[in-house]
Amino acid sequence: SSFLTVAASVGRRMRMPAKIFLALIAVTLGSLLMHYGGRWRCAPCSHPAGGGKAKRTNVTFLKTHKTAGSTVQNILFRFAERNGLTVALPKQQCGHHFCYPNPFSANFVHPHTLPPNIVGNHLRFNAGELHRVVPADARYVTILREPAAMFESLFTYYSQHCQTFRRVPGGSLGAFLEQPLRYYRPQDKNSNYARNTLTHDLGGDKDRPAADAAYARAFTAQVERVFSLVMIAEHFDESLVLLRRLLSWDADDLVYVKLNMRTPASKRRLTPDLAGKVRAWNWIDAHLYDHFNGSLWRQLAALGSACVARELRLLRAAQERLLQSCFGGRRPLRSSAGKIRNKDLRPWQPSAQVGILGYDLPGNLSRPSSSRELCLKVVMPEIQYTKILLHSQSARYRHNHRH
Ligand SMILES: *[C@@H]1O[C@H](CO)[C@@H](O)[C@H](O)[C@H]1NC(C)=O
Ligand SMILES: *[C@@H]1O[C@H](CO)[C@@H](O)[C@H](O)[C@H]1NC(C)=O
Ligand SMILES: *[C@@H]1O[C@H](CO)[C@@H](O)[C@H](O)[C@H]1NC(C)=O
Repeated sequence: SSFLTVAASVGRRMRMPAKIFLALIAVTLGSLLMHYGGRWRCAPCSHPAGGGKAKRTNVTFLKTHKTAGSTVQNILFRFAERNGLTVALPKQQCGHHFCYPNPFSANFVHPHTLPPNIVGNHLRFNAGELHRVVPADARYVTILREPAAMFESLFTYYSQHCQTFRRVPGGSLGAFLEQPLRYYRPQDKNSNYARNTLTHDLGGDKDRPAADAAYARAFTAQVERVFSLVMIAEHFDESLVLLRRLLSWDADDLVYVKLNMRTPASKRRLTPDLAGKVRAWNWIDAHLYDHFNGSLWRQLAALGSACVARELRLLRAAQERLLQSCFGGRRPLRSSAGKIRNKDLRPWQPSAQVGILGYDLPGNLSRPSSSRELCLKVVMPEIQYTKILLHSQSARYRHNHRH
């Protein structure tokens, strides 16, 4: 009240009626509170829907390679199915991706999956062609992974598919990084897996010389303009916190089981020396990663640590409910592909040298068929899931276009 007395006397000195002056102060304080409220109170943080704001249904996810993108794609596919949305899917000649590594073209989309709400299969970003297909209000999201871990993964996963990697004696990553230009040719088949793969997937020029720092900056700025959110694989759950706010989804919409992981035996940890060489070789990717990891943490800091902690608890509680209902509270059993009984759950194996893990469902858990369906889908690899979606969407398309 002493504050009010002072305010009133200031108002008198300014020859302003006290009531009007106080009202002005109240309005100013009110807008300040609204502006900074997110930092002081936690409520807006756990209700990104802002009291009933509709969930966003139009999302274009640029699925990058070896970055936990399959896990995000699986979240989007399940959301689409539950909500009767349309997912843009590749036409059959393209396989399970949009004729990657060619730049995306609207002609790659199966006509029964137009117009889409969700895009989530691999493609090489091409803004103009995507605009022909994707609704104008869609939010663009992508995911990046730390360059050293990512390159180690690419090198192992594509050891047999990428001509560059096949030239390296003994398949030695160290030998490759010693003299990459001895093995790498930009015109090689699948050279996109051998240098600046993130940049290539995002539509950039992976072969820009490292002296061209202005290119990396300009390209990063361009990505930032298009994408509302760039997730970071190393900080996956924190990225989901931001994704949930962007889309106003429920925590239950974001539950996941990590997909398409390698067996521990096919993973290597890089020494700091090799990690440095990877960054030098993939210099545009390294620039992108550092920039967007920084911006992820700035966004989280703006939310406030109490809010983020609360959001993470909500996501993890939803995650626990999923594990409880699907797998009796245990982690689902990881299995190498050959041992998985249900062939719909066997992940694609890139070569005999790399083991990709999948999951099997415990066959003896009794549960209603609707939750059994969710349990099956949450561990379903992308190739099978893409086929199933194409099948159901084509059936819906034919049903809607009967004469
Ligand atoms: C979302 O996408 C669909 C299909 O392209 C479109 O019809 C709709 O207007 C878009 N926006 C919303 C809010 O649904
Ligand atoms: C991302 O940035 C944060 C904050 O600066 C840092 O703590 C973290 O180690 C970075 N993550 C990686 C994988 O580099
Ligand atoms: C399911 O089968 C496994 C292995 O055969 C067994 O250990 C487990 O107790 C069974 N669970 C239920 C709920 O019957």
